[in-house]
Amino acid sequence: MARFTESIEIFSERRKLIGHLMVEKIKNFLTYDADRDFYAKVFPGSVDEESLMRIRKMETTDLAEVLALEQKMYQYPWTQGIFDDCMVVGYYCWICEDKDKVFGYGILSVAVDEAHIMNLCVDPEFQGQGWGNKMLELMIETARGKDVDTLLLEVRPSNKAALALYSKHGFNEFGVRKGYYPTETGREDAVMLGLAL
Ligand SMILES: CC(C)(COP(=O)(O)OP(=O)(O)OC[C@H]1O[C@@H](n2cnc3c(N)ncnc32)[C@H](O)[C@@H]1OP(=O)(O)O)[C@@H](O)C(=O)NCCC(=O)NCCS
Repeated sequence: MARFTESIEIFSERRKLIGHLMVEKIKNFLTYDADRDFYAKVFPGSVDEESLMRIRKMETTDLAEVLALEQKMYQYPWTQGIFDDCMVVGYYCWICEDKDKVFGYGILSVAVDEAHIMNLCVDPEFQGQGWGNKMLELMIETARGKDVDTLLLEVRPSNKAALALYSKHGFNEFGVRKGYYPTETGREDAVMLGLAL
């Protein structure tokens, strides 16, 4: 009996530790250092630019910049109304920012059994620096933390960078949505990808 109680205790300690590690991992993405921000404003040059880059929750005041980036990035961009709705219905919405601009964003919806990556975007000036990776890891960890089984998304088959990113994180193709995306000449299929969490 004592041994049984002991193993229950070890199990419960392990769960606590895993929970703690997950929270720390998410906090690392979202850390906001007010001192760092203050010194950067008051003593420009005293803080290196890279340390001011971070991912944080999207606010409605970010939407103008998010929309401008969306329009720069996509030929058929989401409208302001779609972003508004994502925030109103409580999707997880994050941005990447440096000291004075929004350079990326990610939107994740979470339902009972499955989560869906609705949008993930990094400004070309900031691509290739690991921000797509960071945003995707945050989405995966968030979905895992919600006891969701599967994380899904659609992507254009022509989008080689995104396909490589998702494949690197273990997503697998499980279907095609015919004529899902508009193109100049008609419609393009979407590849459906999924990650078992
Ligand atoms: C896809 C996207 C988010 C990647 O963002 P990013 O910040 O450049 O990505 P990272 O620097 O974190 O790179 C992560 C991985 O993505 C893949 N990748 C990124 N750019 C790539 C490129 N030009 N060609 C091939 N693979 C690429 C690689 O697998 C890379 O891993 P590696 O560094 O180990 O090689 C970015 O290209 C983007 O915003 N594209 C336009 C919007 C879009 O298509 N979004 C996805 C919709 S489903």
